[in-house]
Amino acid sequence: MNPIPYGRQEITKEDIEAVVEALQSDYLTQGPLIKAFEDQFASYTGAKYAVALSNGTAALHLSVMALGIQKDEYVICTPLTFAASVNCVKYCGGNVLFADIDPETYLMDLSHADQLIKANPDKKIVGIIPVDFAGRVVDLNGFRAFADNNNLWLLEDACHAPGGYNESKDQTAGGGVADLSIFSFHPVKHIATGEGGMITTNDKDLYEKLLVLRTHGITRNDELFQNDLVLANGNAKEDHNDYPAWYMEMQELGYNYRITDFQSALGISQLKRADQNLEKRKAIASKYVSALAGQKGIIRIQAFNEGHAYHLMVLEVEDRRGLYDYLRKQNIFCQIHYFPVHLMPYYKQFGWKEGDLPHAEKYYSQCISIPMFPTLAMTDVNTIIELIKTYYDNL
Ligand SMILES: Cc1ncc(COP(=O)(O)O)c(C=O)c1O
Repeated sequence: MNPIPYGRQEITKEDIEAVVEALQSDYLTQGPLIKAFEDQFASYTGAKYAVALSNGTAALHLSVMALGIQKDEYVICTPLTFAASVNCVKYCGGNVLFADIDPETYLMDLSHADQLIKANPDKKIVGIIPVDFAGRVVDLNGFRAFADNNNLWLLEDACHAPGGYNESKDQTAGGGVADLSIFSFHPVKHIATGEGGMITTNDKDLYEKLLVLRTHGITRNDELFQNDLVLANGNAKEDHNDYPAWYMEMQELGYNYRITDFQSALGISQLKRADQNLEKRKAIASKYVSALAGQKGIIRIQAFNEGHAYHLMVLEVEDRRGLYDYLRKQNIFCQIHYFPVHLMPYYKQFGWKEGDLPHAEKYYSQCISIPMFPTLAMTDVNTIIELIKTYYDNL
């Protein structure tokens, strides 16, 4: 059997042609395809604005910068995520409080977040970063109300959930309920641009701020210029009544977090198949759920959920290490998502320790992500199911 990873990108002939066309155009970096990708992605999520960036981590970093944090302030994060969803707070000099996950949904438990706020009246908590873990969208309206009641900003990490939504379909991942939502276009994600990321929002001011932060903190908008015309023209004696065309201003400390035009070409091309690929992920998930529910050795498989974007197919199992090694020997490469962030040595130095977040820790001790990607053939899905059944039936 050919090796089967837990996730894999799909690059079609059309994708390659789109990139080649972009490479043959006049622009490699800042061409028209970036804005086109942003506009199309915004409309895919339902948000008003989108800012494309070099990766999802850059999107998180700029989001926290734009939303604002001071060094004595705190943000509530989930431990069940990729470290970048938490590191962004540290990049900006802030501090982290972890809220445990709900063991049913694996998403941040709002009631624990509420307890944290009540238990820490001395701490200035300014934001909250829920993650649409595995592709299941958090209760965005619930988080919005919680954030508003507690005067917090709301940053949704929607990297796992493009195209995802809640049961009543009135909350779509990145659709503008959160102040900012971020996405990644890393190859294992739904849309791959190599490296790449996006922020979506309905807030025009935040949108404009992010555009500036993405490019070194430089603006070319003459309505925003702070230096006067005389200084900008470099000659106090000449009386020019407009700013010269070359002039730009660095008004704050930003970064170079730009995506390229040819990556955007790939993103636009991939976006065309996003819905179709999401349906394929759902068909695979539905097959796994119906075949494995009730199987000996499987502690928990979430019921099939229509709005789930199925970035990952996660199971909680007995003898996780045994199953993982057994499948590896059969060339099936599962993955574990995630080792709890609060137990990473970097975060332990701030006092976090085993036992602090029991649901996330229990989940980690028995979770496994089995292969899930749109080009995974149903024959391979059946083989994976049979191997899992064989493993546990013979245990
Ligand atoms: C939940 C989550 N947040 C953030 C990131 C960071 O994205 P990137 O790898 O594009 O920097 C990832 C990607 O692995 C992720 O899974």
